[in-house]
Amino acid sequence: MISQYQESLLLPARTFQTGPMTTTYEDVLEQMDSGIMLFDEEGVLTFVNKQMYAILGLSRHSLLGCTMIHLLSNIQMNRFKKKQVLRGYREMMKKGKPSYEFVDEYGRYWKVTLCSGEQMKGCYLFTFKEISDYKLIEQTAYQNDSLVMLGKLSASIAHEIRNPLTAIRGFIQLLHPHLHQLGKEEYAKIILAEIDRANDIIHEFLMSSKPSVPQVAMISVSGLLKEVVLLTESEALMKGCEIQLQPFQEDMIISGDIKQMKQVVLNMIRNAMEAITEKVDDAMGRIELGARREGAEVRIFISDNGKGMDICTLDRLFNPFFTTKENGTGLGLSVSDRIIKNHGGCISVSSRLNEGTRFVISLPLIQ
Ligand SMILES: Nc1ncnc2c1ncn2[C@@H]1O[C@H](COP(=O)(O)OP(=O)(O)OP(=O)(O)O)[C@@H](O)[C@H]1O
Ligand SMILES: [Mg+2]
Repeated sequence: MISQYQESLLLPARTFQTGPMTTTYEDVLEQMDSGIMLFDEEGVLTFVNKQMYAILGLSRHSLLGCTMIHLLSNIQMNRFKKKQVLRGYREMMKKGKPSYEFVDEYGRYWKVTLCSGEQMKGCYLFTFKEISDYKLIEQTAYQNDSLVMLGKLSASIAHEIRNPLTAIRGFIQLLHPHLHQLGKEEYAKIILAEIDRANDIIHEFLMSSKPSVPQVAMISVSGLLKEVVLLTESEALMKGCEIQLQPFQEDMIISGDIKQMKQVVLNMIRNAMEAITEKVDDAMGRIELGARREGAEVRIFISDNGKGMDICTLDRLFNPFFTTKENGTGLGLSVSDRIIKNHGGCISVSSRLNEGTRFVISLPLIQ
């Protein structure tokens, strides 16, 4: 989505007339504590606020009218800053990431966010926000291992709830004949069904929160994808979507735990089906699954034309317990992310609200 515009950011500079600021919007932007710069559809810098030129260490006058190329060849900007600008450009414009974080030469943490596309009428708005305080809190939280603790605590509570449930189930079964005599057999059935449902939820939670020790073996990517399609095809059809396996090379082999790999792809297909069901239109749901070789890696992709995600959802996608669904646990993607990292790979995602989402799993190939 961004690629159609990205080349224009590298166009050579053209002359640009700076004029006096007239609108109150610009005054407001000027006073914000975040750095803001706006490139027009031709990649020319048309607005930059006070914070932004302080961050770049350049004057407003020398920035306005520049393209990205111009900026990178500005002799007044130091090498460190140029490197960061270039890295941010690659991460967001080339790889399509919605934001980028970096540490400046004074050890301060910054988050750069890019807003572009239709809502910006082809322009690119970069926002630079200092996030040193958030980082400090995050690091302290990590030091305390609070997330890990929370995960372990929830898993042990879930585990312990199963024991009393088993006892209750046993006693209800003992009471069954008496309830039958009283003509209240129906009550026993309801209680048993509800206990079984609670047990199922706990079982699923325990399974997803603790990926077991990987059983490493050679996995054929083609075999993996074909099996996953077989497993999900009928469920997808019932939900009004179709799964298409895109043509790919048959001989790609990775090393890993087949069960865990299946769990990851199934999680993503299930998410895709749910995103399609949640989208409010009559269009046929389409999930595309495929793989391609990229040097020494394989990229497995799962795309859907479901409801897509906004930037806030994208930012928190892999956080444990983050969910937008009434009955979701929010563990699917955080567990998938951990599994893929354990296999030496990574997951990337691009999404557009009301249009769809594409997940890409990169893994090292052994053949
Ligand atoms: N393909 C997708 N399209 C749109 N949103 C998605 C997609 N995949 C994930 N999401 C968003 O990411 C959130 C987290 O996904 P995740 O799989 O971790 O948990 P979940 O699906 O909510 O619950 P569960 O634990 O049952 O999987 C979802 O609630 C949803 O908002
Ligand atoms: Mg899920």
